[in-house]
Order: sequence, then C-alpha cells, then structure tokens
Amino acid sequence: MSVTSGPDHGVMEGKGSYNRHSRIPAGGGALALPLLEEAVRKIELDDGNAPVVIADYGSSQGKNSLTPMRAAIRVLRERMDTDRPVFVFHIDQSTNDFNTLFEVLTTDPERYALDEPNLFSCAIGRSFYETVFPPGHVHLGWCSYAAVWLSRIPGPIPGHFVAHRSTGDVHAAFERQAAQDWEAFLSLRARELRSGGRLVVVLPGLDDEGESGFADLFDHANRALTEMVDAREIRAEERERMVLGTYPRRRCELLAPFRARGQFQDLRLERCDLASLPDAAWADYERDGNVEALVSKHALFFRSVFVPSLALSLAQAQDAARCRIFADHFENRLKQRLATQPAPLDSFVQTMVLARQNDVKRDAVRSSK
Ligand SMILES: C[S@@+](CC[C@H](N)C(=O)[O-])C[C@H]1O[C@@H](n2cnc3c(N)ncnc32)[C@H](O)[C@@H]1O
Repeated sequence: MSVTSGPDHGVMEGKGSYNRHSRIPAGGGALALPLLEEAVRKIELDDGNAPVVIADYGSSQGKNSLTPMRAAIRVLRERMDTDRPVFVFHIDQSTNDFNTLFEVLTTDPERYALDEPNLFSCAIGRSFYETVFPPGHVHLGWCSYAAVWLSRIPGPIPGHFVAHRSTGDVHAAFERQAAQDWEAFLSLRARELRSGGRLVVVLPGLDDEGESGFADLFDHANRALTEMVDAREIRAEERERMVLGTYPRRRCELLAPFRARGQFQDLRLERCDLASLPDAAWADYERDGNVEALVSKHALFFRSVFVPSLALSLAQAQDAARCRIFADHFENRLKQRLATQPAPLDSFVQTMVLARQNDVKRDAVRSSK
C-alpha cells in the first residue's frame, strides 16, 4: 500500500489557523532566542553596504517568525548602520498559506519591519530539500520546528500514524530517511551560507529515554481515527494510508554528521542545547480550571499542524468541504478523548547553532596540511 507523500505533506492548516494555534512552537522558538542573538553577534560582516540576508526556512504563516526575526535584526543593527539593507526571505512549500504570511508581515502590531525603512521581506515557495539560494548568499539561517518534516514518507505504519510508534523494518526505514534528509538539509544550507554565516535550527526534542512529551496526544488521536472508521466517517483504507512524515531525531542522530571531525562539510557545530518547554495551556488550566479550554487548545494545536497531512489520504483529498468535515469530526472526537484524562503537553526543545567556516581560514588550514 502506498502512502500520500506529495508536495503538500507537512503544510499547516490554512486561513491563519496555524498562526492562531501554534503556541507550542512559539514557546520553543522563544527558548532559542538567546542562542539566536549570540549567533547573530558572531556572524562575519564586511564593511560594505551590500544587503544582509536572513533566511527563515519553514516559516509557515509567519506569526512565530516575528519575534526571532525582530531579535536578529535588532542585534544586526547594533553592529551596522540603519541604511544597510536587510532582506528577510520566508521559505516554505508552495502550497503554504502565503496570503496570511504577507498579511502578518504588513499588519501585525509585532511586525519586524516597524521603524525599519531598509528592511525588505520576500517569500519563496520551494522545499528546503532543494537549493533555495545561490552559493554563499545567506548571512543567517533560522529554521524552527520545520526540519522535523521529512522529504518523503517511507511507507505505511501498521496500527498508527507516527514513526515513533513503529517497530522493526518500518521504524528502520524512517530512521534511514531521517538521517539522509538531515545530511541533505545541512549540505544545502552549508552551500547557501556565506563564509562566517550562522544557521540556527530549532526542533522538537527528545529526552534521554527518547520521549517527546507528545506520545499521549498522538495515541489519543490514533484512537479518535479508529472511532471514525467504526462510525464510517472515514474508510479503513483511508485510515491505513494516514502517516505523518515527521521524525523527531535523538541528539545522537542530530550530532551524527558532525561526529568524525566536529564539522560536516563546511559547517562547524557551535551549540547543541536541549531545554524543557512547559505547556503554557496547562499553566492556564491550573489557574482557571477550565478543562474545555485546555482540551480545545491541545486539539486545535494538533488540528492546525497535523490534520492537513492526514486529510491527504482521504479519497476526496482535493474536496475542501470533505476535508473540513473530516477535520471537524476528528477535532470533536479528539477533544472528547482528551477531556477524559486532562494532562500537560510538556515537551522539549533542541537548538543547534552551526557556523559556516570562514573560507580564508579553511583554505589556510588545507594548504598547511
Ligand atoms: C510546524 S511549522 C513551523 C513554522 C514556524 N517556523 C514555527 O516555528 O512556528 C512547519 C513548517 O515547515 C514547513 N515545511 C515542512 N517541510 C518543508 C520543506 N520540505 N520545505 C519547506 N518548508 C517545509 C511546513 O510547510 C510548515 O509550514
């Protein structure tokens, strides 16, 4: 049986839904800000007035990019004149909701272009598993909660829809795909970064036992899908095709390409930090005791991130009304299940800072060998 692994997999729910319900990735990105600021301070800048280029890989609808982009621009401005142009490129898959992205960039009160006359925002609809920029073009790369999505889905997962609930050969195929994709992602970014540039990657992390904190949510979602088959809201074969192309990597998997020489191609690892991310929705619940609000936040987070990818397996995946009915029914069932066992969605955030080696120093080391 084949699974749906086209260009749409991994795209978030549109019409701004992801922006409204993505408090968890926003929290993860916020935890990475000190490392981002430190990275920006270390970028090698020449004395000229050529534009400085920031690339936001996997931006989605843009709301969660505002704070990190503002922080990066503020640190850059401490280092250079306000008349030096800065380009911010937001990159995502071509079917991403770019309309909402541009609305956020022009109307959000927190937009980073406020009081910045020499700031130019653009968007690129292309996969980050392809070349996105010419060589040596990017000063700063930021990629938050996006590189966890694979370039393709290796195959179906019997009885579930997430890789960490698979075993044996099925799990091994995801593991291999994740390793290949991580190296491909790093190679592409290594080429695109300028000498002395920095890439900051933020990912949902795993603790020492390999737990992400999301396992119970995924298991509830899996049972909700089974209920939908039993209630004939979806067909069994549609359910079997539903697989997410995500693979949260363990720290050792993220570090594997750097193990031999402390660097991979021209990228040197500067930081690899794991932090815990307490669930902000649970903190609200502890204050107000409102279970309905809690399960609604958790179900809408799941819906806005994962349901569009599950809906690709419906026989009428091109039919927006059918997809919406599927999403509504699924959300209701998930909420009912979550309400029986309210629990916090405490998770982990893995942040990596990679430096593109300075060409001059690299060539000097090579010629001295
Ligand atoms: C969970 S959202 C993260 C959005 C934002 N960076 C944040 O921190 O909230 C993941 C984004 O990665 C994008 N994405 C997944 N695979 C991609 C790929 N191969 N190329 C470009 N973007 C991709 C998805 O379309 C989605 O918008």
